[in-house]
Amino acid sequence: MHSDEIRKRFLRFFESRGHRIIPSASLVPVNDPSVLFTTAGMHPLVPYLLGREHPEGRRLTNVQKCVRMQDIEEVGDATHDTFFEMLGNWSLGDYFKKEAIEWSYQLLTSREEGFGLDPERLYVTVFAGDKNAPQDRESKKLWLGQGIAENRIYYRGADANWWPAVKDPVKDRWTGPTGPDTEMFYDVTAAGLGNLSHNDFMVAEKNQEVVEIWNDVFMAYEKKDGQIVRELESKNVDTGAGLERLAMLLQKKDSIFETDLFETIMPIVERLTDSTKSERIVADHMRTVVFMIADGVVPSNTERGYVLRRLIRRAIFHLKDKILQPEDAKAFASSVALKYKESYPELAARVSEIESVILEEADKFKKTLGLGLRELEKLSGGTMSGKDAFILFSTYGFPLEMTVEITRERGVAVDEAGFYEHFAKHQELSRVGAEKKFKGGLADTTAMAVKYHTATHLLHQALRMVLGSHVLQRGSNITSERLRFDFTHGAKMTEDEKKRTEDIVNGKIREGLPVQCVVMPREKAEETGALHLFEEKYGDSVNVYYIGEKLEGAFSKEYCGGPHVNNTQELGHFKITKEEAVSSGVRRVKAVLS
Ligand code: ALA
Repeated sequence: MHSDEIRKRFLRFFESRGHRIIPSASLVPVNDPSVLFTTAGMHPLVPYLLGREHPEGRRLTNVQKCVRMQDIEEVGDATHDTFFEMLGNWSLGDYFKKEAIEWSYQLLTSREEGFGLDPERLYVTVFAGDKNAPQDRESKKLWLGQGIAENRIYYRGADANWWPAVKDPVKDRWTGPTGPDTEMFYDVTAAGLGNLSHNDFMVAEKNQEVVEIWNDVFMAYEKKDGQIVRELESKNVDTGAGLERLAMLLQKKDSIFETDLFETIMPIVERLTDSTKSERIVADHMRTVVFMIADGVVPSNTERGYVLRRLIRRAIFHLKDKILQPEDAKAFASSVALKYKESYPELAARVSEIESVILEEADKFKKTLGLGLRELEKLSGGTMSGKDAFILFSTYGFPLEMTVEITRERGVAVDEAGFYEHFAKHQELSRVGAEKKFKGGLADTTAMAVKYHTATHLLHQALRMVLGSHVLQRGSNITSERLRFDFTHGAKMTEDEKKRTEDIVNGKIREGLPVQCVVMPREKAEETGALHLFEEKYGDSVNVYYIGEKLEGAFSKEYCGGPHVNNTQELGHFKITKEEAVSSGVRRVKAVLS
């Protein structure tokens, strides 16, 4: 079954059971400084899973693009990747375990409506219970009711069968909606494994003879800073099935890299690499790179930019020649854009920009790679200090894992913890700074961040008035100390333009305008001229925030999830502190309120 058909069947199945199809959110979470990338379909839905009303209702489904970096070391085997698409369905306080499990089973096994998988090859795991929540006997009973044999259902602890919420990367603590889950696995061996003891099942999983294909989470609690703080009023369902793995099963392939999802990119990497592992690493990383750049990420030495830089450089390092030629950068960008042109047209729309970002980074790397390798050649035996690994990173641009990979071949270990200490200092993410920056945990909804959010809307409109209507948001990042706003504009702003922008914003603050929200069908919202994000796709109903007495004639109108202040008067005084280039045609403004 072709990947397009898998996406279609999943969405159609849930649509015909009362779910609204919502679009994939950007890989870069909007106005959420606490996480680098969207890591699961539930991520953009966190406010709704915690109780806010969703404009599309209580049953939702979608295909969400995701990036997960924690498996980067595993990339090269049959099933791991850094970018993937997650098929998901959600109940926001509507149905719970019974429907979720019945539908998962039906979709996996039905030939007419679903994927026609063999029920005799399915295994499931359910939560074993601990001090936080009881053993999930209800889910077990429901699986038995579907016909899964008792000795194919395994109880597992929280390490395996509990969705831990979302990780605040700096505090290193889990925060958000959480609860037990039940996971579905499929036997991919040729002969079939039959019934397995719990222990044999775990061995088979380790050997990738059974692979996890779907996870149904029953969210019933909220976590803050790693602790469960309350039971949710409404019980939610959050599910996730990886498209790549489903494609592997349904196309009867031995790895995700042999599925149609990689069909345009593999012929390129085969030419440029000399081992299966390198082939897969390059294919995976370049696909992720293309998606990241399309969503506005640019290489740098911090945060998202560093992740992108790591991926580009690690991919180049796995090329036979350790050099990426311009025609190959072009081939990568266009092959990914071509494969995904139906589902993610934003790639094709920005393909030449993607190509040039990759190439620029490849050029930078080319200049320092040889010098860094020469430094590394001097090593033999023992341990490399975190400081030396950091110097290789800061002077020669060597991502840590590349240093680790090279030194491993020479029998040298790297003090990785030491590297991260220097790295944290370098990023000004020392404990104190980090806590300030990431205060509020998941989404920074402190009073100050909310003010900056409203100020961002005023700034967006003011820039359009001063510079012209070509100005559109390309990125926004808010902390409780400042706002940062990226927008399309070709030239450096003059002092006069900055001053006029500030004056407009401050004028609207003084006017004391109300900030209000209406939910409306997207088509009607479009007619109002409300601004929206270029990269973002929206559902059929959207929230429109407007600043002014009435929607008609309001100073600012934007599709937005909020939250905002009630009145612009609350913002105080607005000042632009910095204006600079981000990439060609995109400028960045930083501003503070006082
Ligand atoms: N949020 C769950 C997962 O990502 C469904 O596995």
